[in-house]
Amino acid sequence: MNGQGNEATASLEVVRQGEVPRHVAVIMDGNGRWARQRGLPRSEGHRAGMTAVRETIEGAAEAGVSHLTLYAFSHENWSRPPTEVEALMGLLEEYVRSQRDELAQHGIRVTVFGDLTRLPEPARHAIAELETSTAEGTTLDVHLAISYGSRAEIVDVARALARRCVRGELRPEEIDARRFAAGLLTRDWPDPDLLIRTSGEQRISNFLLWQLAYAEIFVTDVLWPDFTREHLFGAFLEYRGRDRRFGLVKA
Ligand code: FPP
Repeated sequence: MNGQGNEATASLEVVRQGEVPRHVAVIMDGNGRWARQRGLPRSEGHRAGMTAVRETIEGAAEAGVSHLTLYAFSHENWSRPPTEVEALMGLLEEYVRSQRDELAQHGIRVTVFGDLTRLPEPARHAIAELETSTAEGTTLDVHLAISYGSRAEIVDVARALARRCVRGELRPEEIDARRFAAGLLTRDWPDPDLLIRTSGEQRISNFLLWQLAYAEIFVTDVLWPDFTREHLFGAFLEYRGRDRRFGLVKA
């Protein structure tokens, strides 16, 4: 099924009775529409989206997920009006500062990936602090994609491998999927098992193009600020019913 119209929910109790995805990736979409429906500025939609971030992190930890990757800001998002970019950067900083201690207390380890050189200095500083103070966490790994674009990530790997070939350190025949993946920003984590996208859009939007090769895709019409842990658990239940074949046939 394509998931359209899917606003299924489930309880933690039910979800804990079976397999949960090891790595869940989320495209958090619909903040702008949520705000528009209420006659609010878009920035208020992003602010409300922070509650859903918290819900999702807590729900993933409760359910026993190992890795949660959230698409917080894409390369393309830099082209939004400067006021919105500023609001998003400000929120990010606010989120990091307000949640840092609580995340650490709950054993959540946060890592951030993307082209962070484009971020304003206070945001970079807040991110570095967040990574340091949560570094010991062992309950759940949360990865925030910020200023991230998957094509640029793939081009960077290709360029680095080409440089090694030119220097004579590597032969082109030695380049395979394993070596390629070892150059990606996500090299230390398993590939996502499940991709969730909110707000009904059925697109990948330059997110983890390589890593999502065999992920199950779940699209819900729920707008991101309205997304709760029960929606997350609903997605897990649907995932459990999927037949993952990785391109193979059934025995
Ligand atoms: C997409 O909604 C959402 C974003 C571009 C930003 C996501 C940011 C947050 C949820 C808040 C901060 C996050 C963290 C991790 C602190 P949209 O603006 O594209 O919505 P629309 O498609 O309805 O216009």
